[in-house]
Amino acid sequence: MLIDSHVHLDDERFDGDRDILINSLKDNKIELVINIGADMNSSMSSIELSKRYDNIYAAIGVHPHSASEMTEKTLDELREMSKEDKVIAIGEIGLDYYYDNSPRDIQRKWFREQLELAKELDLPVIIHSRDATKETYDIIKEAQDGTLRGVLHCFSGSVEVAMEYIKLGFYISIGGTVTFKNARVVREVAEAVPLDKLLIETDCPYLTPEPYRGKRNEPMFVKYVAEKIAEIRGISVEELAKSTNKNTKELFRIK
Ligand code: NI
Repeated sequence: MLIDSHVHLDDERFDGDRDILINSLKDNKIELVINIGADMNSSMSSIELSKRYDNIYAAIGVHPHSASEMTEKTLDELREMSKEDKVIAIGEIGLDYYYDNSPRDIQRKWFREQLELAKELDLPVIIHSRDATKETYDIIKEAQDGTLRGVLHCFSGSVEVAMEYIKLGFYISIGGTVTFKNARVVREVAEAVPLDKLLIETDCPYLTPEPYRGKRNEPMFVKYVAEKIAEIRGISVEELAKSTNKNTKELFRIK
């Protein structure tokens, strides 16, 4: 059994077959998935999915794309929503200087605020970072007072940066990009990260791994991520899964 630590099953691309797909997870050897919030609506949807299905847990938070929609009020709303039983993380939050959908100073402000919220609530964070390697790291380092826990999702940085995050107590999550032909750096990271610091994910419906690249991504495709990382590390998929499942449950405190 595998865990997919990062899914967006509330996405409209699953509207036609969401229930069928979720009900088939177990038969496809997926033990559980974490549905990630990206704005207030999807955070609410994450909670609803977690209530409806035993094998779905919820993360809530506002993605840098939507940072300009955030206010003190939405922060309070997140605080309230976090009281729901199966809310296990704040995310995804971070910086995205590739799309710049929100002004950078606004992205930084609400990234910092949500890191503080996570510490206040004693929840781990799920970090999105694109074309903002140094500033993402600096903000996390500044916020790290020994109580901040979390994961860098779909990590795309170098081995050196991954190791710096591990020193800060963070986990590294690898997604479908590790299966892409030109993913040399991601493969180096997948090999170098200590096994007790590694998570796997699909980020579905995005970033579909080979051999399905170009199609809609699904939680069951996490097995292609697992197979590739196991191959790179020269271990069995079972051994990899044992670690990544344990790491995911420890980080998110899932029983
Ligand atoms: Ni995501």
